[in-house]
Amino acid sequence: MRKLLFLVAMLLSVAVSAVTYDVVPLPQSVDMQKGAPFILDGSVQILSPVELQQEADFLQQYMEDMVGIKPSISQKREKKLRYIELSVSPKVSASEGYVLTINNKGIAIQGGSAAGVFYGIQTLRKSIDGLQPLPAVVITDAPRFSWRGMHLDCSRHFFSVSFIKKFIDLLALHNMNVFHWHITDDQGWRIEIEKWPRLIEVGANRTGTIIGTNSDLDDNKPYGGYYTKAEAREIVAYAAARHITVVPEIDMPGHMLAALASYPELGCTGGPYQVGHYWGVYKDVLCVSNERVYQFVEDVLTEVMDIFPSEVIHIGGDETPTEKWEQCPKCQVLQKSLPTPQQKSEEFSPLTSKLSPLQAYFTKRVFDFLTAHHRRALGWDEILDGSPQDAMIMSWRGMEPGSKAAETGHDVIMAPTTHCYFDYQQVEDTQFEPSRCGGFIPIEKVYALDPAPDSLSVEARKHILGTQANLWSEYLTTESMVEYHALPRMSALAEVQWTQPEKKKFEDFIQRLSGFTQLLDRYHYSYCKHLWPERQIPNRWQF
Ligand code: ACM
Ligand code: ZN
Repeated sequence: MRKLLFLVAMLLSVAVSAVTYDVVPLPQSVDMQKGAPFILDGSVQILSPVELQQEADFLQQYMEDMVGIKPSISQKREKKLRYIELSVSPKVSASEGYVLTINNKGIAIQGGSAAGVFYGIQTLRKSIDGLQPLPAVVITDAPRFSWRGMHLDCSRHFFSVSFIKKFIDLLALHNMNVFHWHITDDQGWRIEIEKWPRLIEVGANRTGTIIGTNSDLDDNKPYGGYYTKAEAREIVAYAAARHITVVPEIDMPGHMLAALASYPELGCTGGPYQVGHYWGVYKDVLCVSNERVYQFVEDVLTEVMDIFPSEVIHIGGDETPTEKWEQCPKCQVLQKSLPTPQQKSEEFSPLTSKLSPLQAYFTKRVFDFLTAHHRRALGWDEILDGSPQDAMIMSWRGMEPGSKAAETGHDVIMAPTTHCYFDYQQVEDTQFEPSRCGGFIPIEKVYALDPAPDSLSVEARKHILGTQANLWSEYLTTESMVEYHALPRMSALAEVQWTQPEKKKFEDFIQRLSGFTQLLDRYHYSYCKHLWPERQIPNRWQF
């Protein structure tokens, strides 16, 4: 009789169970199984080998967050206990893949590596809906791309270490594995470099900021901030625990005004220079004929490589005007001594001219320095002309530069302005938008991106390592605005990065996204609610 009652209770719980494994990003395969569900209660424990202690700790924390149960973690199985068992298994061939098996006896997460286990834990965490029973299932999953990134500009506006950690948590929630950290630019140098102390004494501070979109109004308010080396290391470790690599960007030879203000001898004219107040492209750039500039670059990169274990180091290379080089006698002498580089690509944008031989010379020296230190240089697509084959290219002026780079054998990350600039607006009617950056990239557009379309050759597609979105912070003045612009478009991007294209369906994604936002609420993220008008502020006053 007791058995029968138990069976009825089980069947009833299945009938009312709302757990459907409708998570974001969508796994490659979700196979519902016959049989009784897993009952989530205080008796469940985590079984994990020592090597997966970190993953077990995350699972324990997530369970406490989601259902208030803090399962104990053990390394030895005891009969009669019910476990969530973590393991790395040779049966899972993709290193970031996992198999999540749930039945009434227990839950098993087998990963191709610790990272795979971590992603399996993310899927479990997102599936849990209170103490509802978890129906029997086998989820088999692995990511489409190996580079699943988000960028954040911390130069134009500075964001606290605690916020950077909250942002990294958001990457983890979306199975992303690269945090592209833009830490130097015209408007502020944000990373401590011991050999060149004025970078933070001078370069980390500006005396004012333009109001609005490059208006003639300046707020004249001192603004600054930087990350100590210890803080940067703390962020690297925080990300690494979540299987995220921090890729630092030192943008050069343009976007260097903060460095020039700190050390005017690094520019063609010798200054004086002032840390930038307004947005856009400044004409003052590093003097590429000055050997002291190479000393500077190598010292900076040496300390950067010491802080950041990432194999890939981003060296910028975008938007570098040549005007100062053309007026600089030393740069002109150097230019005359250089071969005209073979042009490998067309001019992609009126924004920039074809790569100057001087920039190609500079880039090659930086590239060789990094290569000699067993790192890989990554640059914005401008560096494609005349750059060494091994240089990785980040395609931002549309997909075309990246496609050409991939066809000519470069590894490529797609981050086109057409789909991946999350500082752009996400709603068309901007009346209630907190920032007015301009541009319009709705979530549908992000979702529609295919970074490696069939139009590319099979060989070129292998060179597309993945994709990321960029969050430039000219108009993102607060941390909650960063979140608002990232969300929920990051979820669409996550699915572009993770899910095979034939499985993607926008309407289905939007359904799953609605449930996913409960996690955003739980962890107190701001996000754009235009998809759910009922959640927006009621009775907005119309102008
Ligand atoms: C860029 O947006 N200038 C890379
Ligand atoms: Zn010069």
